[in-house]
Amino acid sequence: MVNNLIIGANGLIGRAIGNEFKGDFIGTCYNRSENRLVRMDITNHAEVKKIINKNQPKICYFCANLSGGVNRCEKEPELAKKYHYDSVINIAELCNRTNAKIVFLSSDYVFDGKKEYPYKENDKKNPLNIYGKLKSEAEEWIVKNIKKYLIIRTTNVYGWDPKTVTPNFIMNLYKQIKIRKKFKAQTYLFGNPIYVRDLAKAIIELCKTDRNGIYHIVGDHFINRYEWADSACRVLGLDRKYLEKDNKILADHEIRPQQISLDNAKIKNECSISFSSIESGLTKMKNEMNRLKNGKS
Ligand SMILES: NC(=O)c1ccc[n+]([C@@H]2O[C@H](COP(=O)([O-])OP(=O)(O)OC[C@H]3O[C@@H](n4cnc5c(N)ncnc54)[C@H](OP(=O)(O)O)[C@@H]3O)[C@@H](O)[C@H]2O)c1
Repeated sequence: MVNNLIIGANGLIGRAIGNEFKGDFIGTCYNRSENRLVRMDITNHAEVKKIINKNQPKICYFCANLSGGVNRCEKEPELAKKYHYDSVINIAELCNRTNAKIVFLSSDYVFDGKKEYPYKENDKKNPLNIYGKLKSEAEEWIVKNIKKYLIIRTTNVYGWDPKTVTPNFIMNLYKQIKIRKKFKAQTYLFGNPIYVRDLAKAIIELCKTDRNGIYHIVGDHFINRYEWADSACRVLGLDRKYLEKDNKILADHEIRPQQISLDNAKIKNECSISFSSIESGLTKMKNEMNRLKNGKS
C-alpha cells in the first residue's frame, strides 16, 4: 500500500507534485521512460487496474495529458475522449472501490469566458471546445459518482521542465528567443498564470487537510500573453527585440475563451498558501533553471 500514486509523474504538473514528496510516491510515465517510474498507458484499462490494485494508493493524482492540447482534441475527438473522459472515469471508479481519493486536473476551459467577473467554482459552465467539454463531463461524472475527490481547475501553468516534449508558454518563449527567433505573443488572450510549484503545494495542502470538492488554483494576476512574455524577457534576461505583439485572432484561437479569469478566493480562504506574483514566479523558475544547470535537483 502506498500513500501517493502520480499518473503522469514526468509531466510538468506531475513532476512538481512528485518533487514535493521527495521520492515518497509511486509514479507512472508513458512514452518517455524514467528509471524510478512505472510505465503505464491510461487508455489500457486492464493495465491501469492491475497497477492501482497492486499499489492500493490512498491518493491518486491524475496528471496525464494528451500532447497537442486543444487543437489535437478538435482533430482527434475519439482519442481525446479516451484520454480526457474514459480514462478519468476508469481511474476514478478504481479509486472509489479501493477508498482512495482522486485528484483530477481540470481547466478554465469548462467556462466560455463571457462572464465579466472572475469565475467561482459553482458558476455555470459552457465549454467552447472538445477539450473543455470532456473536462466538464468528467468533472460532472466524478461529482455524481465518487466519494473522495478533488477537482482542480487551473490554467497557464509554467515552470522549467527541460525534458518535456510539450513545452509550456514560457519555455517556448525562452527556447525561441535564445536562438534569436521572433516570438509572437497574443494581446487578446488573458488568464491567471500560476507557477507550477505553487500549484503542487496548494494541491498537497488540500490533500493533507482532507478537503473534498472543486477548487480554482490559479495565480492572482490577470494578464495577457504579451504582458506575461514581456515580464519573462525581463526576468530571464531575454532580448525583447525578438518579442512581438500578436493582435490578430488566429483561427484556432476562436474556439478558446479569450479573456477568462478564475477566482481563487476559496483556496486562499481554506489554505495557508499564497501565490507568487508574475515576477516572483518567473524568478523562482529562473532559479530552478540555474539549479538544474548546476546539476542539483
Ligand atoms: N499545463 C497546464 O497549463 C494545464 C492547465 C489546465 C489543466 N491541465 C491539466 O493538467 C494535467 C497535466 O498537464 P501537464 O501540462 O502537466 O501535462 P504534460 O506536461 O504534457 O505531461 C503529460 C503526462 O502525461 C503522460 N502521458 C501521456 N500519454 C499517456 C498515456 N497514454 N498514459 C499514461 N500517461 C500518459 C506523459 O508521460 P510521457 O511523457 O512519458 O509520455 C506525461 O507524464 C492534464 O490533464 C491537463 O489537461 C494543465
